[in-house]
Amino acid sequence: MAFENIHAAVVGCGRWGMNHVKTAYSLLGPRLKYACDAFPSAEEKVKAVGDISFTTNLDDVLSDATINAVIIATPAETHYEVALRCLKAGKNVLVEKPITLVSEEAAELHTVAVQNNLKLMVGHVLLYHPAIIKIKEDLNSGRLGKLQYIYCNRLNLGTVRSEENILWSFAPHDISIIQYLTESNPESIEAFGARFLQRNIEDSTITYLNYPDNVHAHIFVSWLHPFKEQRLVVIGDKGMYSFEDTLKEGKLKFYPKGFTNVNGELQKFDGEFEVVQTEAKQPLTEEQMHFYNSILNNTKPLTDGLHALEVLKILEEAGKKTQR
Ligand SMILES: NC(=O)c1ccc[n+]([C@@H]2O[C@H](COP(=O)([O-])OP(=O)(O)OC[C@H]3O[C@@H](n4cnc5c(N)ncnc54)[C@H](O)[C@@H]3O)[C@@H](O)[C@H]2O)c1
Repeated sequence: MAFENIHAAVVGCGRWGMNHVKTAYSLLGPRLKYACDAFPSAEEKVKAVGDISFTTNLDDVLSDATINAVIIATPAETHYEVALRCLKAGKNVLVEKPITLVSEEAAELHTVAVQNNLKLMVGHVLLYHPAIIKIKEDLNSGRLGKLQYIYCNRLNLGTVRSEENILWSFAPHDISIIQYLTESNPESIEAFGARFLQRNIEDSTITYLNYPDNVHAHIFVSWLHPFKEQRLVVIGDKGMYSFEDTLKEGKLKFYPKGFTNVNGELQKFDGEFEVVQTEAKQPLTEEQMHFYNSILNNTKPLTDGLHALEVLKILEEAGKKTQR
């Protein structure tokens, strides 16, 4: 079996954590040895998945020398403490986004992981989505031409949170995609936020990122919106991509559209779009497989601590601006 040397635990068995439990059990079977949650009531959900030991005590996981992979899906404010304990106990860690709430803590986790030759990976799951991988391939191959503009809309009449604003709730995924596609860091960040439902919590924000080489991007996120839209548009000077994850069919479209300069005159090219089929792979399964492979092959995870730290720094900077 592919991952026979992986012995894992999932910490945090809430809404998203149970997806990790199910995915890990489907990949590892009983080598998903533990599921841990602060609340004993989570045991029932875990036992419904399979033969997994349930514990409310993280020490049971940390003191088991066979465990070499821990997936953390607890609330964001606990990530730093739980991940640090796991790393200090010599465990490789996949922690959910955002890695921590402050970049100093993320930097510390990264350093501890590197010093101990452990993998620290963050659950920026969309970088394991076949559509995002296809867009990246076509950027690298030159099909899109020079990258010019990226925008992301992540909108819904969604779960309104009181412990974090919409930027922290929705934008980490979009920032991680933009960082992945541009392979660089923004030269300037501008952001605006609006509050309607609660004091001091933004319900919608717009973040504008300027990257080197005249690449621009914006991210519009809102949980106060009449319908769900998750749209990514990537514009190059030879073609454009649109990715709408909420659609059932035709999620990824390539548009051979744009302008060329012919003897100083702009000429439009406006071809028919093509629906691009991608492999039917589950991003969360791909993400976990990437984590286990990085442990087994001692390779750097795509969404490692450094990637997560850069995403977090952008979030922090944008967050400060939305609160002006
Ligand atoms: N990658 C994604 O697409 C995605 C999607 C949803 C949520 N998330 C992230 O996953 C994390 C969890 O989100 P959720 O919606 O499942 O939250 P949740 O509140 O539903 O679940 C959190 C669980 O963690 C448990 N918990 C809290 N502190 C703990 C501790 N110290 N030790 C063990 N268990 C503890 C709680 O009892 C709860 O069952 C968050 O960081 C969130 O941002 C990621």
